[in-house]
Amino acid sequence: MPSCYLNGEVLPLEEARIPVLDRGFIFGDGVYEVIPVFGGRLFRLAEHLKRLAASLKAVRIARPLGDEEWADILKTLVDRNGGGNQSVYLQVTRGVARRDLVLAEPVSPTVFAMSNPLTPPREPEPVGAVTCDDIRWRYCHIKAIGLLPNVLLRLQAADAGAYEAILIRDGRVTEGAASNVFAVHAGVVTTPPKGPELLPGITRDLIVELLQAARLPCHETRISAEALASADEIWLTSSVRELCPVTALDGRPVGRGVPGPLWRCALDLYQAYKQRTYQAEVEGCVSDLRPAAS
Ligand code: PDD
Repeated sequence: MPSCYLNGEVLPLEEARIPVLDRGFIFGDGVYEVIPVFGGRLFRLAEHLKRLAASLKAVRIARPLGDEEWADILKTLVDRNGGGNQSVYLQVTRGVARRDLVLAEPVSPTVFAMSNPLTPPREPEPVGAVTCDDIRWRYCHIKAIGLLPNVLLRLQAADAGAYEAILIRDGRVTEGAASNVFAVHAGVVTTPPKGPELLPGITRDLIVELLQAARLPCHETRISAEALASADEIWLTSSVRELCPVTALDGRPVGRGVPGPLWRCALDLYQAYKQRTYQAEVEGCVSDLRPAAS
């Protein structure tokens, strides 16, 4: 049985219990992170913890733990669950209190983390997407646990036989229901700029960084719904799906209906980065184990 972490304790997931008055359960009053683990190592942990701190600040929940404590807890959890590839889910809610929008008195946040096995295919599978009206609230930069609109949007996509819903607000692409969006036109890659309309995806940022470092044209700029419909390539990014090509949009092929050349290039850069990071961490651990020269 997988192990989880709840308020200071590591225990079997099936034994974890929270009170029904937890504000996460009653109001969806909390934030979360999903952190991928490759080869037993938490990938881009510092960036995920930074975003967690920003989400907590935005919803006015005091940071329950410092970065080193988070790292220790998450590493223990990954080890307890056997290392390898995992997807770690971390949630912080405002805590347990009588049901009232405003807290009568301060409470301690509820901290919960669990992990699921992650089996990234050797190569991300192409998917279909549909465009949908972005029905979410106006603070989409916060990774909040209240995901009912996202659930409805994913159901809408599934009804149309597609995987992802690509969201349109005021005629422009914001992001996917659980991913960021990239488009390619005539060899130029674009992704919408960060702001309250979308989550600052950790994978999104890495792809932008890697493409720009490789001197490939990649701009953070608005993408109209019309521009998306005429894109040569569309990609989705997320920590668990990595870099995924969209080969059909609203039932029509994207470009030639197969993953495009720039997607291949971005994926190669991403895989090479993952490999380098893993190697550097392994070498770091080995040198930590070596006795210090006397
Ligand atoms: N979601 N936008 C939304 C709305 C998301 O929910 C996600 C990821 C992303 C991609 O962010 P990142 O690259 O940091 O994973 C963008 C996670 C995986 C989830 O909710 O399960």
